[in-house]
Amino acid sequence: MSSSQPIDSILHETRLFKPPAAGEVGFDAWHVGSAQAYKDLHARSIADPEGFWRDEASRVSWLKPFDRVLEWQAPDARWFVGGRLNACHNCVDRHVDAGFGNETALIWEGEPVAGGGPEVRRLTYEQLRAQTARLGNVLKGLGVKKGDVVTIYMPMVPELAVAILACARIGAAHSVIFGGFAHTAIGERVIDADSRVIITADGGYRRGEVVPLLKNVEAAISLLDSQGHALRDVVVLERTGHVKGAQRFASGQTCGASARLHWWHDLTGAAGEDCPCTPMESEDMLFLLYTSGSTGKPKGIVHTTGGYLTFVQMTARLAFNLSPGAGQIFWCSADIGWVTGHSYVLYGILMNRVPTLMYEGAPNFPANDRFWEIIARHKVTQFYTAPTAIRTFMKWGHELPEKHNLSSLRVLGTVGEPINPEAWIWYHTHIGGGRCPIVDTYWQTETGGHVCTPLPGAIATKPGSCTLPMPGIDAAVVNEQGEEIGANRGGLFVIRKPWPGMLRGVFGNRERFISNYWGRVKDPATGEPYYFSADGARRDEDGYFWIQGRIDDVIKVSGHLLGTMEVESALVSHPYVAEAAVVGFPHEIKGNAICAFVTLKSRWKTEHPGRVPDDALKAELTAHVAREVGALAKPEVIRFAEGLPKTRSGKIMRRLLRDIACGVEKITQDTTTLEDFSVVAALRGDDE
Ligand code: WT7
Repeated sequence: MSSSQPIDSILHETRLFKPPAAGEVGFDAWHVGSAQAYKDLHARSIADPEGFWRDEASRVSWLKPFDRVLEWQAPDARWFVGGRLNACHNCVDRHVDAGFGNETALIWEGEPVAGGGPEVRRLTYEQLRAQTARLGNVLKGLGVKKGDVVTIYMPMVPELAVAILACARIGAAHSVIFGGFAHTAIGERVIDADSRVIITADGGYRRGEVVPLLKNVEAAISLLDSQGHALRDVVVLERTGHVKGAQRFASGQTCGASARLHWWHDLTGAAGEDCPCTPMESEDMLFLLYTSGSTGKPKGIVHTTGGYLTFVQMTARLAFNLSPGAGQIFWCSADIGWVTGHSYVLYGILMNRVPTLMYEGAPNFPANDRFWEIIARHKVTQFYTAPTAIRTFMKWGHELPEKHNLSSLRVLGTVGEPINPEAWIWYHTHIGGGRCPIVDTYWQTETGGHVCTPLPGAIATKPGSCTLPMPGIDAAVVNEQGEEIGANRGGLFVIRKPWPGMLRGVFGNRERFISNYWGRVKDPATGEPYYFSADGARRDEDGYFWIQGRIDDVIKVSGHLLGTMEVESALVSHPYVAEAAVVGFPHEIKGNAICAFVTLKSRWKTEHPGRVPDDALKAELTAHVAREVGALAKPEVIRFAEGLPKTRSGKIMRRLLRDIACGVEKITQDTTTLEDFSVVAALRGDDE
């Protein structure tokens, strides 16, 4: 972790938006309807955590009741010990059993619009039950056992939800890889998880084009072969139908050394619909989800069954005021490849028996008002998206949402990065009609669900603040000694007590689990470690939290976390690149963008006599990063240098590079340890 420090804030946002009465936005009631009710609930959750979480766990359906709420031996938590349950049963079968089999569970809209409108599919709980049972049987038939990790690399289609829930149904853990990642990212995640089965699709639609998912998986398979990792089976959904003629495989055909390819429709067509939900221990792994870290390879964040389900059903219910059977339609625009999609496209929403909407494609296809069209068409009541998307919508103009009837909306949510007050106000005014409360939800892959957010009927909001902790969350801003610090002072965001949705580990890497999250701050009185999120934060005079962003070497680009190391490794894998250093700089739409400082091998000069590093070389390196990691990792700016500024001990001076990337003229750091001062000048004179 880098040594950068959070800052004392100078920005003071003073506008306050009171929560509306439930009826004003179309609810019968708020689950938590006043500041006092929130205060009481939070106070109770801290005073009596076991009682509080026992009550929340009673909203989960247990196949065998738990004996103990919590066993805590920092940093290891075991929640709802002795209980047995199944996540698919909780999201699907129990609703069927309770007589809601014909209710809509999932509404899906495809991206293509040819022929008078998009394709829309609705799946009832009974259909979801039948499909997860079929695929569950297919996976069992392929030898997938309880505890195995199944990798899922799919577009945003209903079968992605089916695949995830089918894994849960048979007790296999899923590891979903975002469809925007490239083959190397697939390969390293498959190896790390020791996964033998991949579920994918021929392709997916994005902005009118086909994303060749199967091709990426095939490339990943040759990589796996070269590393001696024997992949067994690949189940391929036919979504785009672009794999034709001679390229088309027959189910059972081998790809690479050992992997067999199967068409989803062949296998599920022959499978039965009887597949009981496997009872799981509360602490059995439900899923793995890889997230970027400041060093090394992405980390496989481990979430388990009972605690995660308890936490996401509560946070979804309270933050979005979800109620079953009340005509609500919830839409989270995140891809299921990210944790937001896991918790708030699927698990948290299905647990609450509220229909969840899934949209396959881009916000600007076929035109820039697609999202508003979707909200109007399906009468969405709660809408959840990211600040980077909101800033893009702002740029496209408020005339676009104004063309559509958005009056069904009741609550708006935002997630992924701090939202700037201008974007907040625009969202509130032009999407929320000045009427809908905004919940700015702060959380992480590691926290499983929201840890700080306004409850929409209880907490007055301030644009840019995620306001107050979720009930059950003991959040604080502390100094390095673990002491809470005064108002408006920058500090470290920590959670002092365990919560059910917390990560249980980094897959296969105990050391990283401890050092990344539990190694920095301790309770000054007892010495027990606090969970540290790697975000800087401050609290204002009302106790509201203001997240200042990451203080480790990861960058949030368009709300997506990227390790500087990942991008640097991709760059240095190019034959011309000797060294690379990657930093973030503020970007109007993306929040942050990537600036890469690159030095070239002498080979470049030898092979291109007389040519200076130019735009063509930049384009080549950019394309290389997209191929190696994925398009979201593309540097916005590449700057070539003779050498990178380093300390005497050989560490790249990232803070200095950040200042240079941000165009900060004055070098704010003591540079006497620079190996070569001319390097700084060369960097600053270069480019633009
Ligand atoms: C990081 C976690 C949370 C699910 C999606 C991202 C930043 C997230 C907010 C917010 C300010 C936020 C933090 C955090 N972040 N939400 N509302 N306000 N910052 O999950 O990829 O694990 O990223 O996202 O920096 O540490 P993730």
